[in-house]
Amino acid sequence: MSAVVTHAQHGAVAVISINSPPVNALSHAVRSGIADALTAIKAEGKAKAVLLWCGGRTFVAGADITEFGKPSKPPILPDVIAVIEAMPIPVVAAIHGTALGGGLELALGCHYRVASLDAKWGLPEVKLGLLPGAGGTQRLPRAIGPIAALKVIVSGAHQPAKLGHDLGLIAAIIPGDLKAGAIAFAETVGAKAGPHPRLRDDTAKLEVDRAKFDTAVTEALSKSRGLEAPAACAAAVAMSLDTPLDDALKLERASFMKLVAGDQSKAQRHLFFAEREAAKVPGVGPDVRPRPIKNAAVLGAGTMGGGIAMCFASAGIPVTLIEQTEENLKRGLSIIQKNYEASAKRTGADPAGVAKVMALITPKVGLEHAKDADIVVEAVFEEMALKKTIFATLDAVCKPGAIIASNTSYLDIDAMAAATKRPGDVLGMHFFSPANVMKLLEIVRAKYTAPDVLATAMSVGRKIGKVPVVVGVCHGFVGNRMLAQRSKQSELLLLEGALPHEVDAVVTGFGFPMGPFAMGDLAGLDIGMRSRKERGVRAEIADTIAEAGRYGQKTQKGYYRYEEGRRAPIRDPEVEAIIVAASKKLGVTRRPISNDEILGRMLYPMINEGARILDEGVAARPGDIDIVWINGYGFPIAKGGPMHWADSVGLPKIRDDLARFAKAANDPTLEPAQLLVRLAAEGKGFASLAGAKA
Ligand code: 3HC
Ligand code: NAI
Repeated sequence: MSAVVTHAQHGAVAVISINSPPVNALSHAVRSGIADALTAIKAEGKAKAVLLWCGGRTFVAGADITEFGKPSKPPILPDVIAVIEAMPIPVVAAIHGTALGGGLELALGCHYRVASLDAKWGLPEVKLGLLPGAGGTQRLPRAIGPIAALKVIVSGAHQPAKLGHDLGLIAAIIPGDLKAGAIAFAETVGAKAGPHPRLRDDTAKLEVDRAKFDTAVTEALSKSRGLEAPAACAAAVAMSLDTPLDDALKLERASFMKLVAGDQSKAQRHLFFAEREAAKVPGVGPDVRPRPIKNAAVLGAGTMGGGIAMCFASAGIPVTLIEQTEENLKRGLSIIQKNYEASAKRTGADPAGVAKVMALITPKVGLEHAKDADIVVEAVFEEMALKKTIFATLDAVCKPGAIIASNTSYLDIDAMAAATKRPGDVLGMHFFSPANVMKLLEIVRAKYTAPDVLATAMSVGRKIGKVPVVVGVCHGFVGNRMLAQRSKQSELLLLEGALPHEVDAVVTGFGFPMGPFAMGDLAGLDIGMRSRKERGVRAEIADTIAEAGRYGQKTQKGYYRYEEGRRAPIRDPEVEAIIVAASKKLGVTRRPISNDEILGRMLYPMINEGARILDEGVAARPGDIDIVWINGYGFPIAKGGPMHWADSVGLPKIRDDLARFAKAANDPTLEPAQLLVRLAAEGKGFASLAGAKA
């Protein structure tokens, strides 16, 4: 008998138990264990029914993703499901935790499914760049109807047990002891005469209006820009309408095998594991307990502070929002209120919810109101002198054990920590704009940040719905430091011969939602101009444009022009004249620049900076950098993040191109980083460094 799958007799019911922590994924041992157990139960001939039960925290949460891309060892999952369907006695799946992907497909092969009330189910393969490959696209439509199945499969979202029960997928919700209730259920159905219901034979729900189905497909695919898997999922579900089951199963499997071998799924699987690795902070073991966080304070009710306060309030954490004047407070609060109202309108949520969540935000003037906070996030102006004064005041005001965080974009957290007598309690919590929407949270570990403070920031980050990534102190941390390389190249490309719309088209063609110039117009060009002035540097084109009062969308003019009330960028001959004049002024002969060169110059210098960041230990793993770029900067998911993508291009090419760029621009900062040079020489990629599972 397999070590991970056992079976035992409980009266008339044979209970198969799967025990393969952490999530009972369908590894080869689990698949063969289930098939062997079923064969043995049939041969023993004692049982009237079989119960499929999982030990630990969850029912089977899917195929074993670490086995993808390797030769599959039989029995494959469809074979195991075939054994279940051929059983002469009913097989019942008892679902607790999550029945996902192959786990749900296994349950769909069973004659009945029962679940605990808090169980979840779904087919999240699409999030790994796949479609369900073991019958999910055919059996789920038979269970709940093709349109409902389409929505579940294309979204990949987890669904509540109750919905499964309402739709006819789950035969019974079992309150209390699931195992005992499921055994009783199996006894009852085992006592009935066969044949027992199999979804493969049940076509009653497949009759749908084709036009309605097609409309549902268009809607479901509307947000799947650049990804192959959602369309493959929809095409497979469509087969359930008119293709005989066994033919459809073969086609589904073929489509699955094609996607699993493709670059997009590899990238998405990499991101799945990278996100989980990023949750593990070097030096912060599982024994480090986060501090309890019952309330928060946010300093500054501006662009970021308002959004950060919303994050806490939306997660049910009471927050004191602190400003320097009543007027600023009022303005900040009214923006928060409007944001909540707009989102309630958009999602159709109860408007009464807005008042409820607003009640969790207490507006106050004066830093002394941070005294009772368990965590304080500072989001005042980006000025070191001001931040140091504020940190010193917080040190005097805050209770012992309070965590003091800064949302600074670039500044040195160690210097802020040094303004306090409790540097162990200080760290960076760098949110991205708009803070209530963007998923990324860079958690900046300063020199003396205590491990439990990091653990708390990670846990709070997750609680408020962010993807936290720990980074080290340096100018701009991971994301903005890499972005600075792209910004420098954007300016140079214009100077040498490109135009904003050409650069933006290459970058959006790669899969970013926006190019650097449209992005600049959205963020506001005055910010960069002011920051360059402070640093005493000049970017001829960017500064001339901003100095002309062209601040971007807010002035309807930036790198592009904008029509009243519209956000679509329109080419502007005035800007193009400024660009050409700047080239002339600086003595640069304009030349045609190929799309390949544009793409290389947009991405390779950033990857180079990423290599330096890894070498310096500012990021612990290449996957952490990928998670930053996917969640904070719109890097296309299908490409897996800059460092994963770099591996797919090949580091020798990137090294050679960077060396050429450095020579052409006479810019030593473009010389390939040592780490990149070493890996390229060894024929390795960034993935060889750490944490590569997929
Ligand atoms: N295969 C291999 N490892 C898996 C796994 C899987 N399907 N699902 C989770 N794990 C691992 C994680 O990598 C992690 O490992 P680590 O501790 O070494 O980092 C560990 O299990 C725990 O995972 P989480 O940290 O994510 O635990 P949570 O409790 O937060 O979440 C979960 C549990 C909701 C099950 C989540 O892990 C999840 O969403 N898993 C993936 C589910 C999925 O995508 N299933 C479909 C797979 S594809 C498929 O089934 C193809 C089929 O159609 C043929
Ligand atoms: P902002 O100018 O919109 O808001 C700052 C607010 O702080 C103002 O309302 C101001 O009145 C208030 N303030 C100043 N001194 C104060 C004090 N002593 N006590 C209480 N409130 C005080 O600035 P923004 O954009 O919100 O930036 C805040 C911080 O967040 C900066 O450090 C910035 O670098 C960082 N950041 C900004 C991002 C952005 O996209 N705007 C993104 C990520 C970080």
